[in-house]
Amino acid sequence: MPEPSRPELPRHIGIIMDGNGRWARSRHLPRAAGHRAGVATIRPVMEACNEAGVHILTLYAFSTENWSRPRHEVAALMQLFGETIDSEVDEMHAEGIQIRAIGDRSKLSDRLQRKVRAAEDLTSGNTRAILNVAINYGGRSEIVAAVRDLAARGCDLAALDNDTLAGALYTAGLPDPDLIVRTAGEMRISNFMLWQAAYAEIYITETLWPDFDAHAIEGALAAYARRDRRFGAVRVEAALPAPASL
Ligand code: FPP
Repeated sequence: MPEPSRPELPRHIGIIMDGNGRWARSRHLPRAAGHRAGVATIRPVMEACNEAGVHILTLYAFSTENWSRPRHEVAALMQLFGETIDSEVDEMHAEGIQIRAIGDRSKLSDRLQRKVRAAEDLTSGNTRAILNVAINYGGRSEIVAAVRDLAARGCDLAALDNDTLAGALYTAGLPDPDLIVRTAGEMRISNFMLWQAAYAEIYITETLWPDFDAHAIEGALAAYARRDRRFGAVRVEAALPAPASL
């Protein structure tokens, strides 16, 4: 996978695509119309990321908590996931994008699981970019599932370390997201990539997801480039000499 072309770019961006419902309500449309408009935002944003040199994107499409939405909205979202795979996968494949689904797919219909698997299989050899789609995803469940999986494989949990746990997550082998973008203004992480986001920069915009576009992601990248990332340390120029007794 190509590295970002400039060090001030994130290697991996996670996006919490929020605000579809508000977008629809402001137009007196059903919520499903907002989700449909939200799908149309994905391609230009992904292309802008690629053009900028960011090649790994994770989109939060459906959380483990989203099942509690009205039944017709859940059904509309599931329908949309299937339709979007049908309409987009060939073109993404031609563009060299590898598609992966992260989350507990066992709760999806057999039909949708088959579509997801087929999209993953078709694109598995692509190396230009990776698109992770989080469906029935929850950060807590992911960690619990990883630990259970390690236990089932006979791992000595008393000796568990960060790398071993990270290697059992859905995102095994990928760099952690450097940047998490959330649209529609809420200031929370909502169970998204809890482990992986440990040192991510958070960028929140009031823009609703269907209104988000290439220009908006460029704004997020520009904000990221201005951040001072310390990973828990102090800035080198601000560090005082250690006391002689330490
Ligand atoms: C949050 O907006 C959005 C979602 C729960 C669904 C996001 C899904 C998509 C954009 C479709 C993605 C499709 C694929 C194939 C990746 P909300 O409904 O909570 O908005 P609100 O807070 O304004 O009500």
